Amino acid sequence: MTAHHQPNDTLRWGVLGATSYIATHLMPAIAATGGCALSAVASRPERSAAAAELGRPFGAAVHQDYAALLADPAIDAVYIPLPNTDHVEWTLRAVAAGKHVLVEKPMAMDEDGCTRIEKAAEAASRTVMEAFMYRFHPQQRRAAEILASGEIGELRLVRASFAFRIESGSGNIRLDPALGGGATWDVGCYAVDAPLLFFGQAPQQVTARFSSRPGLTVDTSAVATMDFGQGRSAVVDYSIDYGPRAAYELQGTRGTLMVRNAWAMTGEDGAITVLTQDGVREETVPAANHYQLQVEAFARAVRDGGPAPMSLSDSRRTARVGSALVASAAAGGAAVDTSEDVPGAR
Ligand SMILES: NC(=O)c1ccc[n+]([C@@H]2O[C@H](COP(=O)([O-])OP(=O)(O)OC[C@H]3O[C@@H](n4cnc5c(N)ncnc54)[C@H](OP(=O)(O)O)[C@@H]3O)[C@@H](O)[C@H]2O)c1
Repeated sequence: MTAHHQPNDTLRWGVLGATSYIATHLMPAIAATGGCALSAVASRPERSAAAAELGRPFGAAVHQDYAALLADPAIDAVYIPLPNTDHVEWTLRAVAAGKHVLVEKPMAMDEDGCTRIEKAAEAASRTVMEAFMYRFHPQQRRAAEILASGEIGELRLVRASFAFRIESGSGNIRLDPALGGGATWDVGCYAVDAPLLFFGQAPQQVTARFSSRPGLTVDTSAVATMDFGQGRSAVVDYSIDYGPRAAYELQGTRGTLMVRNAWAMTGEDGAITVLTQDGVREETVPAANHYQLQVEAFARAVRDGGPAPMSLSDSRRTARVGSALVASAAAGGAAVDTSEDVPGAR
C-alpha cells in the first residue's frame, strides 16, 4: 500500500494502457500540472514497447502489466483509459492497492458498478473520479452562470447532441460489444450527462430508440427523451454513425442558450449564443485545456482530502440513466423509471 498522500508532496501518476488517443491528451496534462508527475505507464505484456514509447518523453517508468504498476509503491494515483468493460475491475483493484483513481467515462455501465466503487473508495479513503473533462471547461461554468442569472428564465428543456463517425472495420474498441462498445457508452455518456448537470437531478423516466449500422451489432445511433417532472424535459441524440456535432441547448421560459461545441474542444475558444426577446448575443469563452483543468481539480481534491470535483453520486446517476436508455431501447422505446428513491441522496 502507498502511504497516505501528504500535502505538498508530488502526486505521482501511473497510466494503465498505452492508448492511441486519449493518453496523448491526458499524459501531457498530468505532466504540465503543478504538483503532479507522470511517473509510470503500463501496457499488457505483449504491448510493452508501446508503453515505453508513450512514456519516454515524460521519463516515465514502464511496468510489464497493469498489476505491476498497481504494486508500485512509488505511484499515488492512476489514470485508467481502458476499454469500458475494464473500468470497474481496474478501479477497484487500484483502490485496493491504495491508489487514487481518475477513470475514463463511463466509470461503470450500470449503477451497481458505481456503487461498488463508491463503497471501496470510502472504505479506503481514496479519491475516485470519472473523467468527464467537459465539466471543467469554463464554457460550462459560464453557461451555468447565465442560467443562474435568470437571463433565459427557468430551465424547461435541454437538447444535447454528440456525434462523430467511426468507420466499420477500423478495429475501434467502440465497435466491439465485448469491450463495452456502442454509441451509448461512448458519445452517449456526454449527451446524457449534460441534462443531468444542468437540471441537477436524475430524470423521473426516460425513453430511447437505438439503431445499428448494417453489419454492426453495437448501437450506433440513438434518440432519447428524459422527463424531469414539472414540465421539464431533455431530448438527446448521439451517434457514432453520423458526421460531427457536439452541441447542447438550454431552453428556458425567457430564452435559449446554445453551446456549439461542448465535448470536442481542441484548443479553440468556446462560444455561447444567447437568444431572448431582446435579440441574440454571442459570448466567447477563451480557449482552455479542460483535460488539464480536470487533472488540477482532481489533484487538489487528493491534496486537500476533499470530495472529488465530480461526485460519485453524479457518476451513479449518469450510469443509471445510461442503462435505463439501454433497457428502454431493448423494450422498443418503452418508458423506464429512473427516479431516485431519495432525491439527491448519495
Ligand atoms: N475523455 C475523453 O475525451 C475520451 C476520449 C477518448 C476516449 N475516452 C475513453 O477512454 C477509454 C479508452 O478509449 P481509447 O479511444 O483511448 O481506446 P484505445 O485507443 O483502443 O485504447 C484502449 C487501451 O486499453 C488497453 N486494452 C486493454 N484490453 C484491451 C483490449 N481487449 N482491446 C483493446 N485495448 C485493450 C490497451 O492498452 P495496452 O495495449 O497498452 O495494454 C489500449 O491501448 C474509453 O473508456 C473511452 O470512453 C475518453
